[in-house]
Amino acid sequence: RKVVLSGIQPSGFIHLGNYLGAVQNWVQLQHNPDIHERFYSIVDYHAITQKYVGASLDDTVTDESIDTLQQDPSPQELTLKTAATLLACGIDPSKSTLFVQSHVNAHTELMWFLSCLTPMSWLNKMIQYKEKKGGKGDNKTGLGLFSYPVLMAADILAYRATLVPVGEDQTQHLELAKDIAERYNRLFASGREFFPLPDKLSFEESPWVYNRVMSLQDASKKMSKSDPSKKSCINLIDDPEMIRLKIQKAKTDSLGKIKYDSLRPELQNLLHIYAALEGIDIAKVDQLFIDDNMASFKTKLANKIIDKICPIGEKAIKMCSNEEDRLLEILDKGAKQAQLRSEETMRQMKQLAGILRKG
Ligand code: TYM
Repeated sequence: RKVVLSGIQPSGFIHLGNYLGAVQNWVQLQHNPDIHERFYSIVDYHAITQKYVGASLDDTVTDESIDTLQQDPSPQELTLKTAATLLACGIDPSKSTLFVQSHVNAHTELMWFLSCLTPMSWLNKMIQYKEKKGGKGDNKTGLGLFSYPVLMAADILAYRATLVPVGEDQTQHLELAKDIAERYNRLFASGREFFPLPDKLSFEESPWVYNRVMSLQDASKKMSKSDPSKKSCINLIDDPEMIRLKIQKAKTDSLGKIKYDSLRPELQNLLHIYAALEGIDIAKVDQLFIDDNMASFKTKLANKIIDKICPIGEKAIKMCSNEEDRLLEILDKGAKQAQLRSEETMRQMKQLAGILRKG
């Protein structure tokens, strides 16, 4: 049985990295007849792992930190915007189960069980945790940030997913989910794959898959919404003018000719973006630009992004302001389906682990 699961944090109207690294592939997977089920989750409980800690420590709380907490868009607003964007990208509720993580109990419940199987030494190795936690002398890093990857493993294993389409930055978390699944299987299922070991979408199978979109200003960093340089990241709701400007200003070299070359990482990133949007093999993409210089290539790239992205952004904004009831209905239906499937896993998971059944 092939089951796809993936998740995205509710950041609002997502960026090009989320789109190319994940969501575009989620949409593609809807057309794959070999897949039996698809679950796409807006992971609102992951999104709060850093939100409250600094502001709620009694001894450090300031008026300023309360103000920022209140000014931030609320989790519910961000969740609805993200749902609208996913639908605008082409997630089809008749083919995929779209739901909000906090609406389905199994995620947090399974997380507790799995956290008892997960040595802290595994979590201490997580790169994203090391990047996000405070430095020496820090007394603010929350338990939720540390156990973040266990919640992610629970998201995946609650549906016994076999395929997890994510961007490159989630690879280590996915490996951890596999280790946890393996540990459960060994301890409670005599090594049988009760929890299948989830794979990521392989680059070999789909040569256009590009799961590492880099910053437009620094090809050594991933494109990210939290980057202080706003020019570095294209949002799905940017207007055409903004997209042209960001691409024009994107850092490149002065070698003129357009050639796919790993020694030219900035250009390579732009070529990757083009190939991923067009759905063509990365190895062939530079042949499209044999006669171009950097400026004309950038114009073509900006036009391509505008054609693909702007209609999505416009649709998402409209849906948010006019169709809130429909959004809520879709998410509600999704939660019911997800609840049903994950409850079944929980029942079997507890039985195997020897936990007393209820009633
Ligand atoms: P998140 O919300 O940060 O990102 C959502 C998806 O977008 C991908 N992504 C990128 N891909 C390529 N280039 C980039 N610059 C880029 N930036 C983001 C991410 O890899 C991700 O696939 N922990 C996850 C959410 C999650 C999850 C899960 C994923 C929670 N539970 C279970 C899969 C399965 C996260 O923070 O993604």
